[in-house]
Amino acid sequence: MQNREYTINQLKDFKTAKRTNGMAALMMGMAMTLTEEDMQKLADYLSTNPGANQ
Ligand code: HEM
Repeated sequence: MQNREYTINQLKDFKTAKRTNGMAALMMGMAMTLTEEDMQKLADYLSTNPGANQ
């Protein structure tokens, strides 16, 4: 699931409470602290994982 755009979108949706399924409330606290630049850097990092499917 380490697709870059997907990760950025999920982090934004947690921060803005657009994603509320399952245990999303746990991620909201985390995502609240992230800036747009933080999200881009995290997504860049996660998308370089050599074990990722994509
Ligand atoms: C920088 C640190 C973190 C990043 C980048 C991150 C990123 C993500 C992303 C992208 C997802 C969505 C996964 C998907 O849609 O397949 C997710 C889900 C989740 N994260 Fe994090 N996470 C972080 C830290 C944390 C922490 C500290 C907690 C717990 C306190 C946490 C709890 C969760 C939970 C419970 C879900 C699933 C939510 C659901 O039920 O749908 N995450 N995380």
